[in-house]
Amino acid sequence: MIITIDGPAAAGKGTLAATLAKRYHLAYFDTGMVYRAVGLQMVLENSDLNDENKAETIAKNLTFVKMMELSHHKDFRSDVGSRAASIVSAYPKVRAALLKMQQDFALNPTFADGSAAQGVVYDGRDTGTVVCPKADLKLFVTASSEVRAKRRFDEFVQKGIVTTYDKVLSDMLARDKRDSERATAPLKPAENAVILDTSLLNADEVAEKVFSLIEK
Ligand code: DC
Repeated sequence: MIITIDGPAAAGKGTLAATLAKRYHLAYFDTGMVYRAVGLQMVLENSDLNDENKAETIAKNLTFVKMMELSHHKDFRSDVGSRAASIVSAYPKVRAALLKMQQDFALNPTFADGSAAQGVVYDGRDTGTVVCPKADLKLFVTASSEVRAKRRFDEFVQKGIVTTYDKVLSDMLARDKRDSERATAPLKPAENAVILDTSLLNADEVAEKVFSLIEK
């Protein structure tokens, strides 16, 4: 079984993906990680984020091992890393270079310990439209900007990251704009996606809705 979950940042995709992966013995691919890895590598090399060719070279050389290594860096999920990921993810050459790696994962999905999984839950922006258009179930998970910014702000506070709600909201709006206005694979629901607005739902309520969809 292949499930895709697309939607804007902090809409609840990751939590839902992890819950579904556990319940249905599926591997989980957080596809934002590939763009975060390329963006962070650009930052670490002091490369100009406007240099599409440089970003393409990094994307072409990216491996799972390298991506996992970069994921432990403090800036992988910080505002610096998020901004860099959002910029490089708009480049068609970068998206093309990272597509096969994402698609190939479904051919032989494995858990972190190397054991075989019975399918994949993908989470990202274009997993139902581009990465896996033949998925068994496509979800588009969204929530209001204010609710998403509050969730992200609370996460930062919990991690001890100093910021303000207004900064989190304005960064998020800038990223949403870049993600949905780019020419290649913009953020949008797949034609046959089920749209879930999580603004007024907690994680358990969202999961229950999807369980009943799948079991139907
Ligand atoms: O989901 P995330 O916040 O970790 O994603 C990081 C960036 O990568 C975000 O700006 C959108 C982009 N992205 C994308 O363009 N396509 C995907 N499938 C996943 C993420």
